[in-house]
Amino acid sequence: MKRRLVEILLVACTGLMLAACSGPMQEQTVPAASDVFAPDGPGRWLPIIADGLHDPTGPGAKQLQNPAEALFYLPSAFSGNKVRWVEAIEEGYIEPRPSILDSNYKMQVLDLDVIRTRTGEMPMVLFPHRKHTEWLDCGNCHEWLFKSKRGATRFGMFDVLSGEYCGRCHGAVAFPLVECFYCHSVRRKDLKTPVTELEMHK
Ligand code: HEC
Ligand code: HEC
Ligand code: HEC
Repeated sequence: MKRRLVEILLVACTGLMLAACSGPMQEQTVPAASDVFAPDGPGRWLPIIADGLHDPTGPGAKQLQNPAEALFYLPSAFSGNKVRWVEAIEEGYIEPRPSILDSNYKMQVLDLDVIRTRTGEMPMVLFPHRKHTEWLDCGNCHEWLFKSKRGATRFGMFDVLSGEYCGRCHGAVAFPLVECFYCHSVRRKDLKTPVTELEMHK
């Protein structure tokens, strides 16, 4: 369901627009140095006025909830927006509404892993449908981005790094590409069965 992604994006954009639209000039407070330099630790966020994304003088800077306040209770990560979103949903910390328009809408969750094997020296890539279809509708990816036939869509790491295929979301709205091993998670020597049988499991 493209609508779902659009909804998420809309909420995010409205936030950004609110923050960016210039209101009456307000006295600008100088953020503390500890707030300006992004903390490296997991689950640590800059306040909105110091994140370099929002206009600290705009009205949104005061209206928007700070990420630390909204996200602190979720499982933490080192990269991206510092939340392990998959864990957050699996462990029941959050229960996203499938649709803001239709209260009866049910997500169609598909528990099907696809292994992509053309990874050179790197561990192979496991694509988990379940972890995606808890947030996304089939139409977010099929048939325009990926054909629903394993191996039918040819692409490599260069495409992903260029923001295509997996890179349409990873590095943009989902965990960043520096997390190689979230995707490259199946070591060849772990395979007890020939790859052809394992290319799709479950
Ligand atoms: C986030 C993107 C994404 C979403 C959402 C998604 N898929 Fe897929 N799907 C993929 C990818 C990637 C592959 C593997 C394509 C390849 O290897 O060329 C795939 C493969 C498939 C395959 C082929 C499996 C095989 O062994 O040949 C089927 C069937 C499929 N998807 C069905 C679905 C259905 C049904 C939904 C919705 C419930 C869905 N997918 C949602 C990305 C997605
Ligand atoms: C969002 C998932 C994802 C992340 C994160 C990711 N990769 Fe990949 N990578 C892939 C996919 C998908 C392929 C293609 C596999 C195939 O077609 O069989 C691939 C292929 C590769 C290949 C094979 C050669 C090529 O050009 O395709 C290498 C090497 C590689 N990745 C290295 C990395 C390194 C290093 C990182 C971390 C900096 C990384 N990848 C992060 C998904 C990812
Ligand atoms: C339409 C958007 C979209 C596309 C395309 C997409 N993903 Fe994802 N992916 C997500 C979202 C959203 C999540 C859950 C949030 C997060 O982990 O940041 C996710 C989570 C994952 C996870 C689970 C990580 C964990 O924490 O367990 C893996 C692995 C993954 N994606 C691999 C891939 C690979 C490989 C591809 C390409 C074949 C791909 N994704 C394409 C949106 C996408």
